[in-house]
This record gives sequence, structure tokens and C-alpha cells, in this order.
Amino acid sequence: MNSYKIAAIPADGIGPEVIRAGLAVLDAVAARDGGFTLDVTEFDWGSDYYKRHGAMMPADGPEQLKAHDAIYFGAVGAPDVPDHITLWGLRLPICQGFDQYANVRPTRILPGIKAPLAGIGPGDLDWVIVRENSEGEYSGHGGRAHKGLPEEVATEVSIFTRVGVTRIMRYAFALAQKRPRKLLTVVTKSNAQRFGMVMWDEIAAEVAREFPDVTWDKMLVDAMTVRMVLKPQSLDTIVATNLHADILSDLAGALAGSLGVAPTANIDPEGRYPSMFEPIHGSAFDITGKGIANPVASFWTAAQMLEHLGEPMAAARLMAAVEQVCAAGIMTPDVGGTATTQEVTDAVVEAVRGANA
Ligand code: IPM
Ligand code: MG
Repeated sequence: MNSYKIAAIPADGIGPEVIRAGLAVLDAVAARDGGFTLDVTEFDWGSDYYKRHGAMMPADGPEQLKAHDAIYFGAVGAPDVPDHITLWGLRLPICQGFDQYANVRPTRILPGIKAPLAGIGPGDLDWVIVRENSEGEYSGHGGRAHKGLPEEVATEVSIFTRVGVTRIMRYAFALAQKRPRKLLTVVTKSNAQRFGMVMWDEIAAEVAREFPDVTWDKMLVDAMTVRMVLKPQSLDTIVATNLHADILSDLAGALAGSLGVAPTANIDPEGRYPSMFEPIHGSAFDITGKGIANPVASFWTAAQMLEHLGEPMAAARLMAAVEQVCAAGIMTPDVGGTATTQEVTDAVVEAVRGANA
């Protein structure tokens, strides 16, 4: 029997609440499946750890994580620690250090969830956004000179490499090929950005030749926002740069009814390092400790984790259980329900136990 080593990092705010919920559901899925077990180690890293130790994680943190098959991550961010410290101290060093270059964000309207577009319901919007997660506009290249003076200058340089663009294109084409519609939209801005984005387009066309059965098209990012709102059914798999996909995935979450249910996977497709799975929502300290955090995003990302570990049946069973519970209206207040985190969790555990799939 396979046993997977999972590193759980609940971290800040509602992170511990939704990770606890997710682990309960994962236990039920593993028990129901019978074919694998999860060996979970919890790490107490995050903003409280920072206040005690002056760092978000120990210096050998990444080394400790390497021994795991996957990382299940809650959220970082605290009201009294600057965001760039929490982010660059924990989540980003893991993403970058483990070369998790594919950030995968599925979006669907779950049954029972009210989405804002008139006439658009479950089935009309079924996308996966692939976000380049290692370079581009967020590569951290730039600087400031003459600080505070009238002639102050700041640069924020986008870095696009042939290796980086080729590998994310291959990942996106391969993912599109696995989905029933075999349809990929490459987001670009090559009309205005003549260098990096033109190379991006050229490499997309080169990689497309390796996937003759995938239908693909190209959209300028500004026009893409219009298409997402007016013709959501025309899209399936989407690939975009770090910045473009960051923005488009928030729009996607809103169009699906709530960012609160949106999951994300930070994947090293070559499997050299553990990949990391997390809900997109942040630490949400306004509702921390109230027991009403929506655990659906952490369930959905747990399903992504099972899929990545090679347990697609268990992943499908978990998502079916989540959809069944949403359809029954057992939801937290952020999506219009009255249930607590615990009630939603119990209902999903029940649904997993009863599943005959
Ligand atoms: C996301 C988040 C992060 C990002 C923030 C917290 C830096 O918005 O996962 O989209 O943009 O990378
Ligand atoms: Mg974002």
C-alpha cells in the first residue's frame, strides 16, 4: 500500500482551521479508498513562529520539507507583520526554491453556489488557469536609486527565458490535451510588449506543433477579460504569465461565485521537489477563530494533491462529496449559507463515507 508523506503548514489566520478541516476529510478519503495512507507531519511555521524566532521558518525549513511527497499549506499574513515579510519568508521561498513553476488554478461554478453572471451556471464555466510561477513580472529583478529624491527611479524588470516559457507552454498544452475539449487559450500582450511577449507567442506556436490534437488560440490580456465575462463557455484551459494569470484568476474566482472556494496547486512537474497545495483565500483575520471559515477551497486543493500523488479516484470521490454537500446547501456564510466550518466538514466526511463510486 502506498503511504504518502504530507507536510502540513497551516500557518496564519484561518489557515489552521481550514487545514484541520482538510486533514479530517483526507483521512476519511484514505479510509474509504483503502489503497493508500497519508503520513502527515505538521509544521508550526508562520507569523507566530516569526514573533518568537525572528524568521517565518527555520533556516533548514526547505531541507525538512524535501523529505515529503507534498505540502498542504494554509495561509500566510498577520495584521502586525508586514506582508512582504510573511510572503517572502515562507510561501515564496518554497515556490521558488522547489521550482514549482506551474501554478494550476481550476475554476468551476460548484452546484448551489450563486455566480454573478446572468444565465451562467454550473457547466457553463469550467476552466483551468495555468499561471507561470517562477519568472515573468514577479521575478524580483529591479531596484531603486536616489531614494526619496525628486529624481528617484525604480525598475521592475520582467524576465522571460526560453526555458521558462517553453516548460510552462508544454505543461499547459499537455493539460489541455488531457481535458475533454482539448482547447487552450494563450494569453499575451505582444501588441504592446515587443520582446518578452513576442518570444512568448513564438514559443507557444513552436510548442503547439508538439500537440497537433490541441486546438489553441491567442488572446490579448485586456480582451481576455471581456471574453471571460461575455463568453465563458468559449474557454477551457488558459495559460498566462505570472502577472496576467494573477489578475485573471481573481476575475475567474469572482465569476465562479467566490474566491473563498478557489484552490491552487504549485507544481514542480518534474517531481524533483514536493509540490504545494493551498486555498487561494488569504489568512482572513477578520473571521479567524469564529469557526465560519469556508473549508471548500482547502478540500478542493486536497483533491488536487491526491491527483498529483497519483490517486485520481480518491480525488474524484472527494470532489463529488464536496459538490454533493454544496448542492445540499450546507455552506458557510461567505457563500450565503449558515453552516459552520465543522458542519461543512462533517457533511463532506459523511458524503465520502457513503460514496459508492
Ligand atoms: C495569489 C496571491 C499571491 C500572488 C499574493 C499573496 C502575492 O494573490 O496567489 O494570487 O499574487 O501570488
Ligand atoms: Mg493573486
